[in-house]
Formats: sequence, C-alpha cells, structure tokens
Amino acid sequence: MAADAPIAALAEQVVARCRELATVSEEPGRLTRPYASPAMARANALVGGWMTEAGLAARVDAAGNLVGRRGGTDLHAGTLLLGSHLDTVRDAGAFDGPLGVLTAIAALQRLRDEGRTLPYAVDVLGFADEEGLRFGTAYLGSRAVAGTWDPALLALTDEAGISLRDALASFGAMPGSVAAASRAGEPLLGYLEVHMEQGPVLEELGAPVGIVSAIAGATRAHVRFTGRAGHAGTVPMALRHDAACAAAELVLAVEATARGVDGLVATVGRLEALPGAPNVVPGGAVASIDVRHADDDVRAAAVADLRATAQEIAAARGVQLSWEVRLDNPAVAVDPGLTQHLAVAAQAAIGAPAPRLPSGAGHDGVALSALCGVAMLFVRCAGGLSHHPDESVAAADVVVALEVLDGVLTALAQEPAWT
Ligand code: HGY
Ligand code: MN
Ligand code: MN
Repeated sequence: MAADAPIAALAEQVVARCRELATVSEEPGRLTRPYASPAMARANALVGGWMTEAGLAARVDAAGNLVGRRGGTDLHAGTLLLGSHLDTVRDAGAFDGPLGVLTAIAALQRLRDEGRTLPYAVDVLGFADEEGLRFGTAYLGSRAVAGTWDPALLALTDEAGISLRDALASFGAMPGSVAAASRAGEPLLGYLEVHMEQGPVLEELGAPVGIVSAIAGATRAHVRFTGRAGHAGTVPMALRHDAACAAAELVLAVEATARGVDGLVATVGRLEALPGAPNVVPGGAVASIDVRHADDDVRAAAVADLRATAQEIAAARGVQLSWEVRLDNPAVAVDPGLTQHLAVAAQAAIGAPAPRLPSGAGHDGVALSALCGVAMLFVRCAGGLSHHPDESVAAADVVVALEVLDGVLTALAQEPAWT
C-alpha cells in the first residue's frame, strides 16, 4: 500500500536530513561528532532550526542536550519524551541517533500540518552523549535528564587531557549546573525512541520495524598496562617489560572468553601502544574493553574473569595494571504499557504483528529508565550495518515508523496521563 504523499515526503525529508546532518563533523572526510564539541554545537543549531520549522520550541539544556517542545491542550496531562542522540562514534554513519530525533520531529510536524492537537506535551530530545566517544563513559546527556548526574564525572578527561568540566565550559554550558537538566519529579508519560536496528534480524525477517523487548546490559573498562620503555635496538627480549605485548595478550583473551560463552560479546575497540614510536619498546599501552550480555550475572562473571586474566598477564610480564570500570549498566526492561502501544500501532501499520527482539546495542533509554518507562521501535537497516559510514535506512521503512509513532501518539491521547 503506497503511503500517502505527505507522509512519504516527510520520510524522504527525514532521510535527507540525516544525510545533511552527517556532514556536520569534527573531522574532515568522515563523521565524528563528540560530546560538547564545536560540531555538536553546529548540529544542535541545525536540528534546532528544523524543530522550529516543525512548530516546536527549541532550546539546549544545561547538559548540552537539544530539546524541542510541543505543548499539550491539558496542562495536567504530563509530557511524553521522544528522541534519540545527536553525538556519534568515530567514522560514523548518518542514521545511528539522528534517525530517532528527526523521525520524532517529523511525527510532530505531521500533527501540526494536519491541525491535530494532543492533551499532553511532547518533548523531542537530541541527547548529547549517548556513545561516550570523548570521555569513555556513555549517556552523560541522558543521565543529566534522568537526574542521575554525578558531579564527579566532571573530572573525566578526553584523549587530549581536556576535562569534562573544561569541555562543557568551552561549549558554553555551566559545568556546575548540569544537574539542572534533570526532569525528575515531572509528570512524564514515558520515553519512546525510534532507532535503527543496527543488526540483521529485521532484514532477514522482511520486517520494516520491530519492537524492542529488552536492552542488553554493558560494562566498559579502561585498561592501562605500564611496563618499561627502552631502545628497540638495544634491550634484549628477555629483559623487556613490553606493555603492548601484555595488551595484545589481553585482546586475544577477550576474544576467547566471548567465543566461549553463548550470547556474550566482548570488544577491544581502542588499543594504543605508548609512547607510539617505532624504535621505542612500549612502556605503556591502553585498551578499552566492552562486554555485553542479556543476563547481568553472565556479564559480571565474564568481566571478573577478564580482570583476573589481565592481572595474571601483568604479573607474568612484570608490568603494572590499571583497570578502571567507566560504565556498568544492567540490562533494561522496557515499559509494558508503552511497548503494548507500539505493538498495536505497528500491527495496524504493517498489517501483521511486528517482530519483537532484544537490543544488543545500548541506548539513552538505559539512562532514562531511572526516570520513567522506556520503549523502543527498531527500524530495518541495510545489511544490519552500523557504526560504519555505509549504514543506511530506507525511506519506505521510515514511513512505517511515522505511522507507528502517529498511532502511539493518538492512543496515548485517549489515556489518562500515567502519573
Ligand atoms: O555502544 C552502543 O551500544 C551504542 O551504540 N552506544
Ligand atoms: Mn545509537
Ligand atoms: Mn551507536
């Protein structure tokens, strides 16, 4: 069934805007948009303009998140939160994050164009740090909104040694006031996020959208080995304390551990030998370790096992180990009521029950689950590819996502506020 022209045009606009936004980067030739960077400020301005065009009141909150508000007709009906993130990984694709923000804006633009009102207010959030690329820990923006901001985070430093405190000040935020972004205590109907699947399941099933059943738990550790630097030409092998060799041994142990446990995934995404000169035996090495599983106990056991292995490697090689856990999130259950609305609206949109699937990827809903009920709609993506410049989503599937969002917005308007 062909979508009616206005919705098809809205979907095409969402895809085109994702691609336009993808040109806003900190790095020439590829998309990298870290928290509190000049590129993030430019992205907030661009998307904020699109929010204004859609009739939303756009602002940047105390944590650097973009917020677009559409008022409701009943001041006591509470607020529904929609959105996703505007930051990216390094060398990212155009849709991971922005798809959810721009689809939410388009859904509200459609209501405005059709002259429809809602009793409750809707805020579209463009979170500022879902990926955690710059400071090694994720959800800094959504933690502030959830009211779980920890001022100790301001001491985190990026690869250039810039503290989060200084980065926020340079961004124009007030580091001591980040907690003011909190929405805790407000009458909220919940948080609903549209996100590309970032996996192959929907494509294999031939389904344009899917309903997220749970979000996997994740642990992210920052590991540093400290050995002894030396001259590559004069230090005999038997006398070396090569930190990079210790890290290399750990990388393979991470892979072997994950291969040995069903459903466990573990990744060393960042690996660096220090000082990084070809003729210097590495005195230092840093590695990031990302461990995930649907079952929190399995994940915790794997992390403990890997930490013990790292200690054994360090002892055997006469190097020091520093193991710092920067993120440790339990698996998150989705809100049954919001998820049921998603399932009903998706069935109406596609004429059959939408598949339900867990999310191996983390999302801002992990942080927001401390604030309100969360639910997610996945959108099919080509080849399941993501965290890659070639990731893509079809406009025809965005049409379905818009239909589902509209169905949920309408259904919620028939319910008393959940507060
Ligand atoms: O890493 C993740 O799961 C998400 O892309 N931040
Ligand atoms: Mn994402
Ligand atoms: Mn991502």
